[in-house]
Order: sequence, then structure tokens, then C-alpha cells
Amino acid sequence: MKNVRCLVTGADGFIGSHLVEELLKQGAKVRALVYYNSEGKWGLLENIKNLKSHKNLEVVLGDINDPHFCERLLEDQEIIFHLAALIAIPYSYIAPSSYFQTNVLGTVNLLEAARKAKVKRFLNTSTSEVYGTALYEPMDENHPQQAQSPYAASKVGSDKAAMSYFLSFGLPVTIVRPFNNFGPRQSARAVIPTIISQILSDKIKKIKLGSLKPVRDYTFARDSAKAMIKIALTDETIGKVFNIGVGKGYSIEEIYQMICKLTNIKKEVITDDERIRPEKSEVWKLICSNKNLVDLTNWQPETTFEEGLRETIDYIRENLDKYKPEIYNI
Ligand SMILES: NC(=O)c1ccc[n+]([C@@H]2O[C@H](COP(=O)([O-])OP(=O)(O)OC[C@H]3O[C@@H](n4cnc5c(N)ncnc54)[C@H](O)[C@@H]3O)[C@@H](O)[C@H]2O)c1
Repeated sequence: MKNVRCLVTGADGFIGSHLVEELLKQGAKVRALVYYNSEGKWGLLENIKNLKSHKNLEVVLGDINDPHFCERLLEDQEIIFHLAALIAIPYSYIAPSSYFQTNVLGTVNLLEAARKAKVKRFLNTSTSEVYGTALYEPMDENHPQQAQSPYAASKVGSDKAAMSYFLSFGLPVTIVRPFNNFGPRQSARAVIPTIISQILSDKIKKIKLGSLKPVRDYTFARDSAKAMIKIALTDETIGKVFNIGVGKGYSIEEIYQMICKLTNIKKEVITDDERIRPEKSEVWKLICSNKNLVDLTNWQPETTFEEGLRETIDYIRENLDKYKPEIYNI
């Protein structure tokens, strides 16, 4: 990666911020796209120590919904890691058009810009949510796609747009399909930070959650970032889809029990109807087959689920003031 010019969209977000950190560690020159805002904030990149003055980091503020901006953004870039997206499933129930706008058309703007800039690689970040509830497990890349939410449908659209640029124009596209991620800096829209922030808050007596049954396969975000980099550096991945996941599932109930044990705090759990997804939209189980990724790149997760939970608990404990555990964050 030394001196390779890499653009990360969604760099201000959870996984993007870990990817920027890892790319810089590996010597890349990183252009980090942060969603335009009037305060000039860098989102979660602000939480990384000694980043602001890093000689290999250029931060650009903007919006992938503007094609003219995208054209400028991609100038001189070699590898594009496209992570910017609207990602929260509950918000996609009430603001679906913005999901299709940003996740599909925003991706098309970047693909078109990538074609003009003749980039060497374009990684499009998908999600295991495109598979829907497991019909078989572990789920490989051939698992049928059953978009059960507007978010999932918009990501199917994004993937199809990306692959069409490979088939139509030979753009060197790879689709990376992470299963659930977790780790420091994740917002309380995700279930692990929701549980931890409620457990740690003195103001909360009973923990509000949705269904405790869904099972997910959790990868520590730093490990996902490393997988993405390995995929970008392996030419045989062009024109293909790669799952990123560990291959082991935990239910929300099990995660809650583990967090109680690690924090030494136990609180009663109550069901909050607002947090229950519509029945046919709930994805009950997602377990990853990472065989293709491992066979081709030798990637292995380096952080166990328990180690990752400990690191996440430590982060949230230090940053509890940034969370709002008393409300439902969508
Ligand atoms: N978090 C997970 O468990 C998970 C699992 C599978 C796939 N993914 C995918 O990984 C990617 C990153 O997810 P994340 O968890 O880091 O989400 P995130 O919400 O933390 O990051 C996404 C970032 O995209 C930015 N963004 C949104 N709209 C934009 C726009 N119009 N222009 C520029 N930037 C914009 C946001 O500011 C945000 O910081 C997404 O594509 C998501 O679909 C995430």
C-alpha cells in the first residue's frame, strides 16, 4: 500500500474511519471524504489521535449525490473504497427515497467518475442484509438475494450498478459484502453500542431492546478494514463478490449476557415495541461463509468477539457523553 493513492468515501463513518486508520498505517496516501457539513467537522475521524496533521491524509468535505463534485473527488486516485451510504434500517422505513438517492444514484455518480479517472480498483461496499434471512448457512456469495428493507433494496441496487460498470465498461470493480461489524466508534443505531451504552448509563434502570432472537455474525471493524485492503490488492478479486465475516453467530440475547458479564452489571431487559421490526422485514439469521475470501487472500480475523467487546466497552465508557442511551437512536 506504500504511497498508493486511495479514496475512502464514508471516511467520517464507523467502518470508514477504521479503514482510513489502517490505510495510513500501511503507508497509503489517503483522500478521506467526509459528508459536507457547515461546521467543518470530520465525523468519527475526529476521534482518532494524531490524525489531523498526518502527512498522508487529505480530508475533503462533500456529497456523493453531486456528480460534478464526484468527478473532482476521484481525480488522480488509484483505489476507491466506496463506503458512504445511508445505513440504518429503521430510518429507511421512514425516509426510503433518500436511501435510493444516495445508495444507488450516489454510487452511479462515483462509478461514472471512476470511469473517467481510469482508476485501478473500485471496491463497492455491500451488506449481508441483501441476502435476507438465511435459507441455508453459512451463507456464501451465491445465496439468493431477498431485500427485506428499503435499505437492503438500495444496496442491491448499488451492487448491481457497480457490477454493470464492470460488465459494460471493464471498470475494475469488486463487491465487498461485510456481515455485521462492531467496535469502538460505532453509533448506538447498532445493537451492541445500544446495549453497552444503556448498561453503563447510571440514568438507565431497565434496558430497552427490540427482539432478542436475531442472530448475526460480527466482525471487528479493524479486521474488516484489513480484509478490504487485502481484496483491493488482489487482482483476482476483480469482477467478483466477497463476503467478509467470521462464520460464527450470536443472538442479541447472548450478546446481552456477555456484556453483563464483561461489565459486571446486570439490568432487567424490557421489550420496546418501537424497536421491533415489521415481521416480514426482520432478518432472523445471517451467518457468513468467508471461504472465497480466505482461500484467495489468507485473511483471518485477528480479534475475537470477546476481545472486541472489551475494546468497545472501554471506548463507550470513555465516550459515554457522546451517546444518548435514554432515547431510541435510529
Ligand atoms: N456497520 C455495519 O455493520 C455494516 C455491515 C455491512 C455493511 N456495511 C456497509 O459499510 C458501509 C459503512 O457503514 P458504517 O457502519 O461505517 O456506516 P456509517 O453511517 O457510520 O458511515 C457511513 C458514512 O457515509 C456518509 N454519507 C452518507 N451520505 C453521504 C453522502 N450523500 N455523501 C457523502 N457521505 C455520505 C455518512 O456521513 C457516514 O459517516 C456502508 O456502505 C454500509 O452499508 C456496514
